[in-house]
Amino acid sequence: AALLASSIPKVQQSQRASNQFQPQASFKVAVLGAAGGIGQPLALLIKMSPLVSALHLYDIANVKGVAADLSHCNTPSQVLDFTGPLELANCLKGVDVVVIPAGVPRKPGMTRDDLFNINANIVKSLVEAVADNAPNAFIHIISNPVNSTVPIAAEVLKQKGVYDPKKLFGVTTLDVVRANTFVAQQKNLKLVDVDVPVIGGHAGITILPLLSKTRPSVTFTDEEVEQLTVRIQNAGTEVVEAKAGAGSATLSMAYAAARFVESSLRALDGDGEVYECSFVQSELTELPFFASRVELGKKGVEAVISADLHRLTEYEAKALEALKPELKASIEKGVAFVEKRA
Ligand code: NAD
Ligand code: LMR
Repeated sequence: AALLASSIPKVQQSQRASNQFQPQASFKVAVLGAAGGIGQPLALLIKMSPLVSALHLYDIANVKGVAADLSHCNTPSQVLDFTGPLELANCLKGVDVVVIPAGVPRKPGMTRDDLFNINANIVKSLVEAVADNAPNAFIHIISNPVNSTVPIAAEVLKQKGVYDPKKLFGVTTLDVVRANTFVAQQKNLKLVDVDVPVIGGHAGITILPLLSKTRPSVTFTDEEVEQLTVRIQNAGTEVVEAKAGAGSATLSMAYAAARFVESSLRALDGDGEVYECSFVQSELTELPFFASRVELGKKGVEAVISADLHRLTEYEAKALEALKPELKASIEKGVAFVEKRA
């Protein structure tokens, strides 16, 4: 029930209530990279939340128009725009949640790791500013390669002396959204009921849907497991190829990121039983970062849920061992990137 409660329909229900009453809470959210393909629809969805009093939109260009446009929506939050590094500190002061979709997306033929050279620098400089101006905020990293950009963010925060592992999240919600959609289609289930935990990381074989842990309980043939797992792992590439050079997933990503923001805000607001999958510092495996279900609370990650990793099928257990070397290398690449520049 908690998982279902964190879905978008709940946002829309609350939205109806907010038309009659004052906002239920007054959280401030910043989006860094707000004029981009993800940033714009994400800002729109966050603008719909009754939990938000201020929406700060930052980009290196084109953000003024996005903010002017959005500010005409008659929902409670105030929209402010910030352009370029000189305005970044003001954008971040006093915010509760910082979402980072800044960076370049893939084109056909590229891996997420091919984005490392450009996006590592972008994430590093943005997280430095977050450390200086919003050290207590929840930080949601969307920029790819997530398997490396999250460790980069952690190292930057450590260097600045403000690292709180409970508040740094790699956003892997889109993997869960996709898994839920594909499983519901395949098994002819009501979408709203389906929840599939997705563990590991956010690239290729590091994305591991635990189909055996699908709720409600469903049985799959071996062929279905293989076909669904591969489709979920390649879903990002499916979109990159369909967009044929015009970028990667933006709308489904904005939907997924808005769900993760709403869950974070509900947790900050004191709601109980808020669960999401996320790539976080973790002791579930020997790897320092790992995506799994986590329970969110006022202070960030309240608990990393280990139960999903118990009694894995043989297929899942093998896939888990197979993903570890790649995920480990991506994490180490991120850490080394920051250490080299220290
Ligand atoms: P986009 O090119 O449409 O938008 C990126 C935005 O970032 C642009 O507006 C650009 O001006 C801005 N930007 C660049 N450098 C910046 C900086 N230093 N400070 C602030 N803003 C900056 O790209 P997009 O489609 O929105 O994708 C953004 C990122 O999200 C990509 O790295 C992509 O791979 C990633 N992504 C992740 C997931 C996920 O599941 N985690 C899903 C989809 C996309
Ligand atoms: C996704 O999963 O859609 C994103 O990580 C973007 C990409 O490059 O596939």
